[in-house]
Amino acid sequence: MKENLSIDLKNASRFVSFEEIAALAQQSVRHLDALNAGSGAGNDFLGWLTLPEDILPQLDRLERIARHLRSVTDVTVVIGIGGSYLGARAVIEALSHSFLPLLKTKNHQILYAGQNICEDYMSDMIEVLDNRNYSIVAISKSGTTTEPSIAFRILKDHLERKVGKAVAADRIIAVTDDEKGALRSLAEINGYETFVIPDNIGGRYSVLTPVGLLPIAISGLDIKLLVKGAKSMEEMTRKNKNATTNPSILYAAARNLIMQTGRTMEILVGFTPRLHYIAEWWKQLYGESEGKDGKGIFPLSVDFTTDLHSLGQYIQEGQRIMFETFLSIKNTRRKLIVPSEKDDADQLNFIAGKRLSEINQCAETGTVIAHNDGNVPIISLTIPELDEYYTGQLIYFFEIACALSGYILDVNPFDQPGVEAYKMNMFALLNKPGYEEAAKKIRERIK
Ligand code: PA5
Repeated sequence: MKENLSIDLKNASRFVSFEEIAALAQQSVRHLDALNAGSGAGNDFLGWLTLPEDILPQLDRLERIARHLRSVTDVTVVIGIGGSYLGARAVIEALSHSFLPLLKTKNHQILYAGQNICEDYMSDMIEVLDNRNYSIVAISKSGTTTEPSIAFRILKDHLERKVGKAVAADRIIAVTDDEKGALRSLAEINGYETFVIPDNIGGRYSVLTPVGLLPIAISGLDIKLLVKGAKSMEEMTRKNKNATTNPSILYAAARNLIMQTGRTMEILVGFTPRLHYIAEWWKQLYGESEGKDGKGIFPLSVDFTTDLHSLGQYIQEGQRIMFETFLSIKNTRRKLIVPSEKDDADQLNFIAGKRLSEINQCAETGTVIAHNDGNVPIISLTIPELDEYYTGQLIYFFEIACALSGYILDVNPFDQPGVEAYKMNMFALLNKPGYEEAAKKIRERIK
């Protein structure tokens, strides 16, 4: 039988007992029922729950369009922000070659735009694109978000001037709402191929829609295997009412109980840079879902062993306000052995002949024990390998655990009203029509 993602709570049990976790997990089965029945808060945003099945009819078309873009261009710029950006980047960076642009073999590269408004970043990108054959995937559910809209205006103009309007239209794909928004109008006016983001799926839960799957397919990864992994996790979680064998209920219960001990920050820990953007995606998922009504665990992340030499000191001995969730990968995909040296001038012969993964594993185990001794509760999640299948498991696991955790906290895990505040001020400062009153007030504030 294939191994699955697993959860181990033994390094949390000194802080919250197994019995307490099991009791809250048992009580939380009602939240799973609420998700399945669509009777909880935010129930008009539950489309992601059944995506591993619902998305199947779209996979062939996604692969076909991805193949087309890969055949006519060498680079795709994926434009989007937040939930319309992080999921795709998380999967692509976790599973692609770490030095793709420097590989000698021909490969298709993905660049990201619209996730910032940095003039230097965009100017550098345009400089590169001047000499590249490229396509654009513009992703925005609302079709009106400022950052990606600006990036799309600039790049659409650049591409049209470079290859002409007709060829550009063949190389631009829009992923957006079925009817509303400026991106939908632009797609219709210019005849772009489009994919629809369903109304009932919010940005941060949309990685298994074309929002995530199209860029992932363009990068050359196997989206069918990704969805298959997510489907297997759906069986283990959404369809599993046994609290003690349902990893998402256990995770949701454990992190909420640990928070109640005063540890209000959760650090997602990875021991490979490949997990960096998985953690960025996870931070958005949990931060936007739980941080409201004055509640929520603050999500942070570290890349170890790199950050053991920066934040490690604080985690070991600073304020006891955090817990850690280790995301471990059992087997690396490649093999590299430390060579032996005759004179042992660097005194490393004690590890000669060992694989780097073995050394990394010792660093990980050593860190778990050290941080645990330093009074940091640790939840351990393990996947057998970092491939499409287990990344699919991980995505669905974190999504459903996040929804359950939000219900345990008694917040609506599917809205994000607080994101609007900065936008209002920015529009007022930019003199957007309709924001005159706000502009007057804000100018008083910054005088
Ligand atoms: O999770 C969310 O809902 C947000 O992060 C959005 O994805 C983000 O603001 C981008 O929105 P849109 O897809 O409408 O451009």
